[in-house]
Amino acid sequence: MKILVTMGRGGTGKTSFVALTTKYFIELGEAPLLLVDADPDQNLGEMVGVDLHAAGKKSISELLVETFLEEGGTTVGVPPTERIESRIWGRGMYEGEHFDFVALGTKWVEGCYCLPNAALKGALESLTKNYKYVLIDSPAGLEHLNRRITSKVDDIFDIIDPSKKSFDHVERAYRVAKEVKIAFQNFYVVGGFRFPESLENQARKLLPFKFLGRVAYDENVEEYVLAGKSLLGISPETPAYTSVKKVMENAGYGRHSPL
Ligand SMILES: Nc1ncnc2c1ncn2[C@@H]1O[C@H](COP(=O)(O)OP(=O)(O)OP(=O)(O)O)[C@@H](O)[C@H]1O
Ligand SMILES: [Mg+2]
Repeated sequence: MKILVTMGRGGTGKTSFVALTTKYFIELGEAPLLLVDADPDQNLGEMVGVDLHAAGKKSISELLVETFLEEGGTTVGVPPTERIESRIWGRGMYEGEHFDFVALGTKWVEGCYCLPNAALKGALESLTKNYKYVLIDSPAGLEHLNRRITSKVDDIFDIIDPSKKSFDHVERAYRVAKEVKIAFQNFYVVGGFRFPESLENQARKLLPFKFLGRVAYDENVEEYVLAGKSLLGISPETPAYTSVKKVMENAGYGRHSPL
């Protein structure tokens, strides 16, 4: 099992990157896949054609609130981790043909949520074991790292735009990930769709991390997102998709490259 996570500042193209990577993994036949939407704004679902609520499912935050706040978490004989885990399987997990999908959701409760956090972490660790790949879409910024929904990650993809802030973000992201003790194998930098070719060399030279390439600007993506259509249905010839494919091949996820 491998866990892949996107990071980056707002609007650099993290979510579309996860959606297009999902399409690539499906094309490679890499199943089973689990997608985790860790952004409270919950954009990933729409980009991969999933409407959680319409499918009768709840976000994990909603399930946590139900389990621990409304019913009181510890009174029943089942340990909290198991309780939340079985709820997620039953009522939080969207099961698709090529991938399963869960959303962490918005309703994070105030106060001490040590118990739900610990239970969630335990439950997620156990859930993710069933998959070959877990793709996590993060919100912008770095605060979410503190939630530490997972303590072990294989690849981090930091998606950057052409700004000093983005360059700074990369170093900070790396530091914070280390500080909160998230163990990761690879820290990659990817040029987002606004990142110009002319800055590629600078990114390679200035940043002490492997630069995997750029995601091409693509009006098809804009059009799909605007219309709320799933990016999984986009043409495989389209520039954004072919560039994401190349980026993933550079990270070692190719048809012919050993993993
Ligand atoms: N390859 C692309 N070409 C052109 N436009 C794109 C591309 N990828 C994304 N976009 C546009 O940029 C917008 C932001 O993309 P996306 O939601 O993937 O970014 P994000 O980093 O996840 O944003 P947030 O920080 O809000 O989560 C999308 O609504 C889409 O219109
Ligand atoms: Mg996003």
